[in-house]
Amino acid sequence: MCGIVGYLGPRPVLPLLLEGLKRLEYRGYDSAGVAVRSPAGIQVCREVGKVASLEAKVGLERSRFAGTEGIAHTRWATHGVPAERNAHPHRDDKAGIHLVHNGIIENYTTLRKALESKGHSFQSETDTEVLAMLVGELYEGDLESAVQAALKQVTGAYAIAVMAESEPGVMVAARKGSPLMVGLGQGEYVVASDPSAIVAHTTQAFALEDFTVCRLSQDGWRTSNLHNAPVSPKVMELEMKLEEIELGDFPHFMLKEIFEQPEALRNTLRGRFNAEQGEVILGGLQQVGRDLVKARRIVLTGQGTAWHAALVTEYMIEEFARIPCEVQYASEFRYRNPIVEEGTVLVAISQSGETADTLAALEEGRERGAMTLGVVNVVGSSISRMTDAGVYLRVGPEIGVASTKAFVGQVAVGALMAIYAGRRRHLSIEATKHLLVELEAISDKIRAVTAQSDLIRDLVAKVVDRENWLFLGRGYNYPVALEGALKVKEISYIHAEGMPAAEMKHGPIALIHDGMPCVFVAPKGSQHDKVIGNMQEVRARGGRVIAIATEGDEAIVPHAHDIIRVPECPEALSPLLTTVALQLMAYHAAVLRGHDVDKPRNLAKSVTVE
Ligand code: M6R
Repeated sequence: MCGIVGYLGPRPVLPLLLEGLKRLEYRGYDSAGVAVRSPAGIQVCREVGKVASLEAKVGLERSRFAGTEGIAHTRWATHGVPAERNAHPHRDDKAGIHLVHNGIIENYTTLRKALESKGHSFQSETDTEVLAMLVGELYEGDLESAVQAALKQVTGAYAIAVMAESEPGVMVAARKGSPLMVGLGQGEYVVASDPSAIVAHTTQAFALEDFTVCRLSQDGWRTSNLHNAPVSPKVMELEMKLEEIELGDFPHFMLKEIFEQPEALRNTLRGRFNAEQGEVILGGLQQVGRDLVKARRIVLTGQGTAWHAALVTEYMIEEFARIPCEVQYASEFRYRNPIVEEGTVLVAISQSGETADTLAALEEGRERGAMTLGVVNVVGSSISRMTDAGVYLRVGPEIGVASTKAFVGQVAVGALMAIYAGRRRHLSIEATKHLLVELEAISDKIRAVTAQSDLIRDLVAKVVDRENWLFLGRGYNYPVALEGALKVKEISYIHAEGMPAAEMKHGPIALIHDGMPCVFVAPKGSQHDKVIGNMQEVRARGGRVIAIATEGDEAIVPHAHDIIRVPECPEALSPLLTTVALQLMAYHAAVLRGHDVDKPRNLAKSVTVE
């Protein structure tokens, strides 16, 4: 995943591109670059590292970048190490084509060989340079038709923005698989990977569809397919507000997003149930509700945090609706000859809606005849468009690479789907009303957890130098243990393992010694006594027990060295509270260890490659 931004209009372009890159930096940050059309021709600057490094470098020769048209890119390396030569924009060696790209050109080796045989020589190891070279090879004075012709030869995924040295005032963008939007301002255009780089300039925009090419010029814009037939995009009003994508008073997006969870959850739930009548109303599932209720089997799929939310959802669907349910990593599902019989419903869970493995799993399921549903945050994303129906999370833009509020939204939507199907199958009206009233109350209860942020930081400070942590939970809080371990790993670089608490004694207990942090996700619930038993086993071997426990639970006190309290709630909904405590633990561990919380090493916000 990479970030693209392009601008064509009357304003000085360099500050605008740098600002856009900063907003898109969550998409990848191992190198960055700009190409600006100046009176002396297109000027390029590329630098390894974050956008700030590029800004510093380009700032040294700012006058060279005076111009009002340009393209820019922030990279998450796929082909070739993070190095200046591999950073975008790439250019061809003949026609003065400059190109930025997000995606993967799958047949780039074949194309490269063909281009080399025609005498082209390459400076980088990237697939993108091959595309720039191909456009240059086909260029005969019309950038739009050269791009169309080149893309006909390409397999894979791309979002691109392109300029040609000899066509001032023209920019061409195109998309297949990777997202790209065009913002329409007053006599100006902003092309970007997502609306966050557009909304500061205009709220009128359209998303490019697959295989669409867009030509922007001072005279206007047009969109066409690869065969030059006109295509009419749907221009929309962007709903994203600037404050949603700005830090405000928070030091990091992750902390901001953790603290936003009460409001995010309210937005997820708003208008989707009536607790008094025990009714769940999911507009997005209206057409397929019957099929969901009658499903013979539900398969939930996703990756990372979304996969953990799927596990919680599985427990809820089986408990409330009694529909056989299973969770599969999308990356495994797509390759394992999965069983899809009549009545199988495949539900893809994803914050971004662009995760490559999840998209591929959906395609696989759809081809085998499954009804497909999406539980997605980003409106208009690929998953939301390719599924038969779905429910949006509505938690607002999530910018921190570590997913937080999306998890809460995913679990809440999972709960609504499970209660919706449950009520039409096995769940009594009383049980339904009770669950909905409790679900409604969770937002305020999350505040009680975030209010303990300082306490959690102090508690984490005691163990932050330890390199190995365990996370343990049972039932609904087993997936939470997995999620806690993932959060700690990805932003603090501490090795952490999550597992069902009972699994510990089948091997991992051998690791426990001398103050090893063992985090027990242990709110009150059906297996509470068993979890306390597991805590005793850890303490007996010298481990340090940190418990996430229900307010007022005194039974746990003698068994834990430290306790983080969460308000009481039904067991099935407890992940919505316990996870927040673990998010804060991970956040503070990362800050205490001095890491860049929002941009952890080697990662990017969404994984659009296999
Ligand atoms: O956008 P998605 O929800 O499909 O992303 C799935 C995972 O890549 C994502 O949850 C990842 O594990 C996060 N960085 C976890 O914090």
